Amino acid sequence: MRHLITTKDFSKDEVLELFKEASEYLDEKPRNTLKGKSITTIFFENSTRTLSSFETAAKRLDAKVLRLDVSRSSSSKGETLFDTAAILDTMSPSAIVVRHQHAGVPASLASYMHCPVLNGGDGKHAHPTQALLDLFTIMKAFKNEVENKTIIIVGDIKNSRVAASNIELLSRFGLKIILVAPPHFMPNVKLEKTYKLKEAIDQADIIMSLRTQTERHQKQMYGSLKDYANDFCITKELIKDKKVIILHPGPVHRNIDISDEVLADPRSLVLKQVKHGVAIRMAALRKLILENE
Ligand code: NCD
Repeated sequence: MRHLITTKDFSKDEVLELFKEASEYLDEKPRNTLKGKSITTIFFENSTRTLSSFETAAKRLDAKVLRLDVSRSSSSKGETLFDTAAILDTMSPSAIVVRHQHAGVPASLASYMHCPVLNGGDGKHAHPTQALLDLFTIMKAFKNEVENKTIIIVGDIKNSRVAASNIELLSRFGLKIILVAPPHFMPNVKLEKTYKLKEAIDQADIIMSLRTQTERHQKQMYGSLKDYANDFCITKELIKDKKVIILHPGPVHRNIDISDEVLADPRSLVLKQVKHGVAIRMAALRKLILENE
């Protein structure tokens, strides 16, 4: 049984195949590819776009969606993950999409289930469909010529599963990655690093801004988000008229991660990312469900 737990689960060729299929789904037409299938979503952590994106994707392919309301489910009564998984498995879903605050939960769930498991984000570990939709958006913007393009990833990189998944995937596709963050947000990885945003922007073809993951901090890391913004907010003053695209996985802290003005600028592809996300998740669901049969 194949699952999508990290971006490493798909080879480069499979990613390219997935993108080809996702491009077709951009017409937003309903299809009956997954008619008769049923997809369970179980999100132990808050989500707006990832949950609605997966559910829209499933419905656009004519699958049924069962959303498990975790606050009302027995896991809030202390049922173990193993037991929750066993119950879910008995109902024979065609696929399950899970998000959890702890790294590793989707992988352990996958070992109990008889259907593909798609990771909708686990702790600081991975968020594979986000990285796939980010790369897809970059490829579209650069007409597939992404090798040696420079991306700067700015913000709370250490605590971000989006960054972790993007670092794996984008390096595999030959992008040059520069990490831009204050020391306490910098992960221990072998990549070019700086805290000088202005100089990094000068080299960038792509800017990926990230939200400060305050919910994952044991103590307050910055004097205030305003202080952080002074050093790391993407503003018009910094990007001027530079040819660059700007990405953010959302939710955006306005005027802390990116200024209102830049968010409204045509170089900001934030809403396009959301649109692309549905198409990518359609392709991922189709692939895992039908190829595993
Ligand atoms: C991200 C997440 O949940 O990891 N959001 C998303 O899925 N689009 C990023 C974040 O929460 O900052």
